[in-house]
Amino acid sequence: MREERTKSYLLLYVVVILTLGIFSLLLVLIKYRDVSIIGLVIFGILIFTSDNLNAPLPKTGSISVNFGISLASLIIFGPATGMLVTFISIFNIKEFIKRVPYYKHLFNAGQYLLSFAAASVFFEAFYDRSQTNFFYARNIWIIFLVTYIFFILNTSLTAGAISISTGMNILNIWVFNFAWIVPFQFFLSAMAIAIAFLYIRFSPFTLIFTSLPLIIAQYTYLLRVKERRTLLNSIMQIVKIMEAKDIYTAGHSMRVADYSELIARGLKLNEYDIEIVRNLASLHDIGKIQIDLSILNKMKKLSCKDWQEIKKHPIVSYEIVQQIDFLKEKATAILYHHERIDGTGYPFGKKGDEIPLFAKILCVADAYDAMSTNRPYRSGKSVGESIIELEKNKGTQFDEQVCDVMIEILKNKNAVPVTFSLGENEKS
Ligand SMILES: [Fe+2]
Repeated sequence: MREERTKSYLLLYVVVILTLGIFSLLLVLIKYRDVSIIGLVIFGILIFTSDNLNAPLPKTGSISVNFGISLASLIIFGPATGMLVTFISIFNIKEFIKRVPYYKHLFNAGQYLLSFAAASVFFEAFYDRSQTNFFYARNIWIIFLVTYIFFILNTSLTAGAISISTGMNILNIWVFNFAWIVPFQFFLSAMAIAIAFLYIRFSPFTLIFTSLPLIIAQYTYLLRVKERRTLLNSIMQIVKIMEAKDIYTAGHSMRVADYSELIARGLKLNEYDIEIVRNLASLHDIGKIQIDLSILNKMKKLSCKDWQEIKKHPIVSYEIVQQIDFLKEKATAILYHHERIDGTGYPFGKKGDEIPLFAKILCVADAYDAMSTNRPYRSGKSVGESIIELEKNKGTQFDEQVCDVMIEILKNKNAVPVTFSLGENEKS
C-alpha cells in the first residue's frame, strides 16, 4: 500500500518536472530565438562526447562537466543556443545501453532543462553583453552565480526524487550526495570562462585545448569514486574469507553493519556519517585475521592466554582501517568497539564520554548480533530476550541513548525497512 502511494507520488513528481522542463525549453527558444548553427554543431558534438564520461556519486546519481560546456555556449551564443546544447546532452547513450528506466530519463531531462532555463534567464537578465572587456568583473560574478543557481536547482530536484522514493530526509540526501561536489562547480565556472574567452578571442579550434582538461578532470573523479568502491569490495572479500574460517561468526560483520546503519538512522545522523558507520562496522573485526584459528574455533572454554590474543583484535583492526583514507578519521570507533561505558571493557578500559559515538553504536550492534545468533554451546536469544539483555546492561556495558534506539528498533521491527533480518536465530 505504502509502496503504491510512493510510486504515485514519484510519477506525479516526474510528470510535473518533465512538463515544466519542456515548457521552459520552449519559452527560452521563443523568447530569445537567436540560434547559432555553428555553435550548436560544435558544442553539440562536444557535449555529446563528454556526456558519456560522467562519474557515479556515492549513493546514487552522477556528475559530469556538461554544465561547463552548456554554460560556455550560453556565454558565447546566448540562451537559445545554450538551451539547445543542453537539450542534446539529454541523449546519453550509456544510460540507454544500461537500460536505465524510462521515467529516470524523463525526470533527468525535465529537471536538467528546467534548471538550465532558470539559470540562463537569470544570466541574460544580468550579464552585460555590451562590455568589450571579457573579464568585466560583474560579468564574471554573474557566471559564477549562475553556475551555483543551476547546481542548487539541479541537485535539489534530484534529491527531491530520491527523497520521495526512499522516504529519506531531503537535506541528508543532499548533504551526502551533493555537498562534496560544491567546490567542483567553481572549477566548472572557470572552465566555461576559459572556453568562452578562447573561442571568442581566438578560434573554435582552441576548444580542443580547453575541453581536454575538462574531460581529464571528469575522468579523474570517475577513477576516484571507482577506486573507493574497488578498495571496499576487496577488503570485504577478505572479511568474508576470514569469517568463512571462523565457524562462530559467519556473516557477523555484514549483520553488524546492518544493525549499525539502523541505529545511526535512529539517531538521525546525516547520510554521510551513516555510510561511514556502516563501512566501519563491516570492518570492525578484520583484526581477527591475526588470531590463530585454533583459538577462534575452540569448542571449550578459552584460556587466559587465548583471551589476551583475542583482546588485541580491535587494535589490529584499527591499524588496518587507518590505511583507508576516507575511514581513518573515524577509525577510533573500531579501536573502542569493545570498551564499556563503566570502564571495564578492552583494550584500554575507556569509559563514558571517552568512547566516541560511532564506537558506542558498533558496540551495541556487535553485542546484539552475538546474543541473537546460535553458538554450538547455546541457542541465540529471541528478540524479547535480547531486549531484556540490552535493558539489563544499559548504562554499564552500553550507552543509554544508543541502547534505547536499538531497543526501539527491535520493538518496531516490522516498521523497519527490511533489507535486514532482525533477531536471527539461525546461523547463516
Ligand atoms: Fe570485535
